[in-house]
Amino acid sequence: MKNTIIAPSVLAADFANLQRDAELLNNSAADWFHIDIMDGVFVPNISFGMPVLEAIQRHAKKPLDVHLMIVQPERYLETFKKLGAEIITVHYEACPHLHRTLQQIKSLGCKAGVALNPHTPVNVLEDILHDIDLVLIMSVNPGFGGQKFIEHTYEKVRKVRKMANDRGLNTLIEIDGGVTTNNAKALVEAGADALVAGSFVFNSANPTQTIQDLKTICEVSL
Ligand code: DX5
Ligand code: ZN
Repeated sequence: MKNTIIAPSVLAADFANLQRDAELLNNSAADWFHIDIMDGVFVPNISFGMPVLEAIQRHAKKPLDVHLMIVQPERYLETFKKLGAEIITVHYEACPHLHRTLQQIKSLGCKAGVALNPHTPVNVLEDILHDIDLVLIMSVNPGFGGQKFIEHTYEKVRKVRKMANDRGLNTLIEIDGGVTTNNAKALVEAGADALVAGSFVFNSANPTQTIQDLKTICEVSL
């Protein structure tokens, strides 16, 4: 049985009740806290920054999975490490020196992730996959929660899984955007290891149950 990682996105939490929502995640089947950092430059939206992450960190008891939707992420890697990041994911599109940036993330003792926008072909990772711990495939255009899942994502997941298998790597594949109980199982069957879900979890009547539902539906025998 494969254990799929469920990473609720704090972007969809109630910012006026962050402690309550952090405790909700602590006491749920969630595996990671997904943290979306947006700078208003790389993406057309600004989410939250260091002081808010510091507040989340004080209450979170699970790994912080930090997704940087910012230009020049290398400027802030050390700060995010200090703020408790266990996984730091940068965008392929924001890193002209991706190899160096990944080495910097690893030298801090974090897992290094690379995110791909919907239009970015997965084969750009062919010569760097062995240096990546996690590939985050955006299944919506980054910048906002609550968008519709892009169906072409399945194809990209299968391709990355094949690329990793061909190289004997156990690269984690994470899917971000528009994830629900309708597509979770098919994503895992295509090769996904981790699913981010924001609005589907926090806009539901019972987020704890919704996280459990995602976890259960992903229990596929492979
Ligand atoms: C989008 C973010 C996502 C977002 C997902 O730019 O990277 O993590 O929070 O939200 P939903 O699950 O609502 O699509
Ligand atoms: Zn994200």
